[in-house]
Amino acid sequence: MTQDELKQAVARAAIEYVPSGEIIGVGTGSTANFFIDELGKIKDRIKGAVASSEATAARLKSHGIPVFDLNDVDSMSVYIDGADEIDPKGAMIKGGGAALTREKIVASVANKFVCIADGSKLVDVLGAFPLPVEVIPMAQAAVARKLKTFGGEPRLRMKDGQPLLTDNGCMILDVVGLKITDPAGLEAQINNIPGVVTVGLFAQRGADVGLLGTAEGVKKLT
Ligand code: 5RP
Repeated sequence: MTQDELKQAVARAAIEYVPSGEIIGVGTGSTANFFIDELGKIKDRIKGAVASSEATAARLKSHGIPVFDLNDVDSMSVYIDGADEIDPKGAMIKGGGAALTREKIVASVANKFVCIADGSKLVDVLGAFPLPVEVIPMAQAAVARKLKTFGGEPRLRMKDGQPLLTDNGCMILDVVGLKITDPAGLEAQINNIPGVVTVGLFAQRGADVGLLGTAEGVKKLT
């Protein structure tokens, strides 16, 4: 099976976690896109969705799924999203698609985080994937200096020769070379640096359910 077929299989399996008649939270990225396509097939069963990015909002709308502003939603039973890495305890690195801040916000309102990923995303120790950190533009150099003290090498994410700007008008530093043995501790430390909007570590609140697409079928991690 190709990686895309594994993503599609896990996206299909996640439909089981979609409660009828409710608003759900939806993540960003290629796996989330497969999930949105599956959601489109059962859209009459749900009330709508809260999107974690402009791209996800556009894809949801293209399927005729009503998109709600998070400010109009008090609670959600489930948030479904992909990950760049996930460890056996459900701690994740996210933000490869630059949507980490809105992903963390929408996930924080949901009772359950269902992570959907192909099996290659499962790692023993997080950090081989560069850790995204969203920063206020004026603070990017200062934050980069602080991030170096954690042992990694921060690189400003670029697009078309310019610093990439997120949906929030901020920049991303991708930190390479980290071996993250205490994900929740590092999440707290990085979030504490002035100028950091969000770190792409989802460990203090990790995945409640991890679904992994493998050649032997969809496996449940947690
Ligand atoms: C976007 C994310 C994505 O969930 C993550 O990058 C995984 O993406 P994909 O499903 O394309 O592998 O965090 O900000």
